[in-house]
Amino acid sequence: MKKTETRVKKSSQPKRTSLAFQRCINPDCGATYDITEVHHYCPKCGSLLDADYEWDKLPVPKNLKHFEKYWKERNILQRFSGVWRFQELLPFAPLEKCVSIGEGQTILQQAFGVAPYVGLDPKSLYLQYEGLNPSGSFKDNGMSAGMTHGTLVGAKQAVCASTGNTSASLAIYCAATKLMNCVIFIGDGKIAYGKLSQALDYGARTVQIHGDFDDAMARVQEVSRKLGIYLLNSVNPFRLEGQKTIMFRVLEALRWNVPDWIIVPGGNLGNSSSFGKAFIELHKLGLIKKVPRLAVINASGADTLYRLFEQENLRWNGGRPDKKKINAFFKQMTAEGRHASTIASAIEINRPVNLVKCLRALDFCNGVVRSVSEQEILDAKAQIGASGFGCEPASAASVAGAKKLVEEGVIGKDERVVCVLTGYQLKDPNATVAYHGTNAKFFKEVLGSHGVKSAPFANHPVSVDNDIKKILDLMR
Ligand code: F0G
Repeated sequence: MKKTETRVKKSSQPKRTSLAFQRCINPDCGATYDITEVHHYCPKCGSLLDADYEWDKLPVPKNLKHFEKYWKERNILQRFSGVWRFQELLPFAPLEKCVSIGEGQTILQQAFGVAPYVGLDPKSLYLQYEGLNPSGSFKDNGMSAGMTHGTLVGAKQAVCASTGNTSASLAIYCAATKLMNCVIFIGDGKIAYGKLSQALDYGARTVQIHGDFDDAMARVQEVSRKLGIYLLNSVNPFRLEGQKTIMFRVLEALRWNVPDWIIVPGGNLGNSSSFGKAFIELHKLGLIKKVPRLAVINASGADTLYRLFEQENLRWNGGRPDKKKINAFFKQMTAEGRHASTIASAIEINRPVNLVKCLRALDFCNGVVRSVSEQEILDAKAQIGASGFGCEPASAASVAGAKKLVEEGVIGKDERVVCVLTGYQLKDPNATVAYHGTNAKFFKEVLGSHGVKSAPFANHPVSVDNDIKKILDLMR
């Protein structure tokens, strides 16, 4: 196991108001900030911030089985929550102040129907269905935590940029709790209709920027800074605290056993970063001995992490990644005018804000990164759908990535693999209908434009005249 402990300078900050605080992830800075302060990046050095805790002064559970005692307290909102029943592992707010709309009632399903496609033994593949959250994606885990911090600091208005799911999630939390108003920024034409319809229906003020997600993300940070509006993108460290609980629930479903692999799609890299933080902390607190390996899967049209990690060998390097390499990469991207493009619109991101935190996760979890084609994503999605539940295109990147890693021999056939299905099937019905349907024009428009050539696992509908004889003939 590699060491990830970082040298941290003593803080010159005034006394903290809580055992939870914020810490700069740059070991050469290590500045700390009170829980009541709102920063997107470290004011001293510009690096990302973590939520951190004085664990030795907190009542840390002795083992993970401890959390089972909360199963019988499901009549308490926060104990019902799949996020807050683990509050002792993200203890930045008192339990009764934690915001919940019933997130995290998700399942880990043994996917024996999908395993042969991936090349795994039938009992080896598990799918973590995060699409079962209230807004239909994993974002609700993070949003409940981000909203909790926002209310803690008295925020009345929140803002986010989104490829769709973050905005649907923020919109539902604001609509259901009335704790804040929200404004969401989306790239023009860059959002699946299922997600856009959610934000509109929940009453979120929706701003379409003439640009893509990366443009919207840059602008929203300016807006948040200039107008003092609370930012609920994954650059907010409290969002990521909530997303740690996806991994706690995976362990819970496996009776507290650690799988061999966690596989997750990578976009803005918040999820992978938070999973890494979850395992770093569980390990540090002595709650797990084994650490799973992590695979982050990019779409080939939005593959910054893949290029930097696998091709340019960029590493966490004890918290000192090669900044020159990163800057040169993005400079080149700007010079080439290269923009992200993928049918998996949720991960259509070329400038991931959590890049450095993700490098930390990959380092601790002995991770790998792969990129998968549009065809691979859609074929994997069809296999997942055919096994029940289903997911949106971005989520299927995890299964497509698993298949690739098994083919490469990186993952063994009998290793226990958990793929995170990040978003619900109905988020993007266009992609599904184009794949399974018989309308060649629609196929070309939705999928062909992304280079998808065929639909080998399509379940084509058949049409028949409104005539009982013909219908019966068809069915015999
Ligand atoms: N899967 C889905 C369904 C997503 O919506 C996202 C991100 C990801 C995967 C990637 O996760 O950013 O943590 O690496 N969607 C964001 C949004 C960016 O705005 O909804 P990540």
